Amino acid sequence: MTRIPAAGALAELARAMAEEAGDLLLQQHGGVRVVATKTSPTDVVTEMDRAAEELIRKRILDARPGDAILGEEGGQTGGGQTGDGAVRWIVDPLDGTVNYLYGLPDWSVSIAAEVGGTVTAGVVCAPLRRATYVGTLGGGAWLHSAWEPAPRRLACTSGVPLARALVGTGFSYAAGQRAAQGGVVAQLVPRVRDIRRAGSAALDLCSVASGLLDAFYEAGLHAWDGAAGGLIAREAGAEVGGLRGQPAGEAMTLAAGPGLFAELHDVLAALTAAADRADG
Ligand code: IPD
Ligand code: CA
Ligand code: CA
Repeated sequence: MTRIPAAGALAELARAMAEEAGDLLLQQHGGVRVVATKTSPTDVVTEMDRAAEELIRKRILDARPGDAILGEEGGQTGGGQTGDGAVRWIVDPLDGTVNYLYGLPDWSVSIAAEVGGTVTAGVVCAPLRRATYVGTLGGGAWLHSAWEPAPRRLACTSGVPLARALVGTGFSYAAGQRAAQGGVVAQLVPRVRDIRRAGSAALDLCSVASGLLDAFYEAGLHAWDGAAGGLIAREAGAEVGGLRGQPAGEAMTLAAGPGLFAELHDVLAALTAAADRADG
């Protein structure tokens, strides 16, 4: 039987790896080459996405050789273990590649550890915010900021009505899905304070955790975009889920304080249903 690893120890390892990968990425920020495209011509991979993931994979395997790893660039590898103590790391080595390519500041390294199928530790490191967000299951969400003397426990906003909410979102790389997402956001923008499209979903979820956004939603995200940030937002008091009782995932990831979650949920459920009907 495998021993169940403590969330705190996994978070510490994740934080060390994310900050090291963040330092590596900082060396080339804004000056990189696109080496490949993925789902569409606008979905790019740079040599630095790959280098950061290689570094993280090496550090995981050095520290915990039996663990499984799901990384955006290298897919799922390893992990012969089963049972309650089996660990799978979920890694987005560079979330916000397009920002990184253009020299825009909002990009991050996102690393989550899933134990027996539940994410128990999540870290999102944003070097140009000089910030690392850390969450552990039941242990809260914390900001380690170069601008603040000590780690700060995070709490999402509460009691914000939809009409006064600052709502973050993002768009898929697929043109067709983008058009539908644009239609939904066009209907939403008159009903909220404003919309932000910052460019890193992992960081958007941390923005909800820290009150920089009241809410965030996006369809089409992958596990590596939302695993760490989702835990951090939840540990900061946000509700994180999909539409109509589904868990957060590819169909929809929505995060907000409890009252706002319900209000935004209902509007998005209606708008996406209408968009689906119009699509045939
Ligand atoms: C993307 C970012 C972006 C979101 C996209 C993601 P990547 O991740 O998180 O904010 O809108 O859906 O794919 O490609 O930069 O790792
Ligand atoms: Ca991503
Ligand atoms: Ca990525």
